[in-house]
Amino acid sequence: MATPFIITLDGPAGVGKSTLAKRLADHFEIAYLDTGAMFRATAWKLGEGSWDWDIEKIEGALKELSFTLTGSGSDSVLSLNDVPLTSDIRTETVAMWGSNLAMIPAVRTYLKIAQREIGKTTSLIAEGRDMGTVIFPQAPCKFFLDAALEERARRRFEQLEEMGKPADINDLIEQIGTRDDKDRNRKEAPLKPADDGIIIDTTNLDIDGVFDRLVAEVKKISS
Ligand code: DC
Repeated sequence: MATPFIITLDGPAGVGKSTLAKRLADHFEIAYLDTGAMFRATAWKLGEGSWDWDIEKIEGALKELSFTLTGSGSDSVLSLNDVPLTSDIRTETVAMWGSNLAMIPAVRTYLKIAQREIGKTTSLIAEGRDMGTVIFPQAPCKFFLDAALEERARRRFEQLEEMGKPADINDLIEQIGTRDDKDRNRKEAPLKPADDGIIIDTTNLDIDGVFDRLVAEVKKISS
């Protein structure tokens, strides 16, 4: 079997990673792994306050979780214990729970093993915070997307509206800003670009412009 080809896409909340990762996965006809969804789903399953449990209880609960990825492109399906994830996890509240759990080394280790296991057999666009730095540092294509907080909140606002989950823009600015600070400043696998990653500031770029740049970079690296 050929070695899976991995493209990593890291960056803060609301930068447009998911939209771009799905488009790239369709373009290159490979699977799409949303690792933020793994943290959200873990938080959804363990529930509010689980980050304060003692470590044995957290480890016991993690042992009951099994993630699988099937399909390809934007039709890739991530399942937890054989049940496909739903839009229930797509709220800022669940994202914050995920961010809280993401500070706990046992949770990161558990999900790291699950993510690498998927990447052993499947070519991937892997989206998250530490894909290029910790999970797949050997990946040939590593990208880090960034954008100003207000612009990211605006993009998330539009995304939530499209999903029928309207939000208040000022609340989003505050919630995303708080979550970013946590993700960037935690000790374990903080949000940051890989030393040899390609950084793209997307504040003043439209999604098509960023997509074209990413495709061109992947083609250059893989040719
Ligand atoms: O990508 P997202 O917004 O769905 O992620 C939700 C939270 O999960 C994010 O605030 C931090 C955590 N996370 C992480 O720590 N590492 C990842 N690779 C992906 C997400």
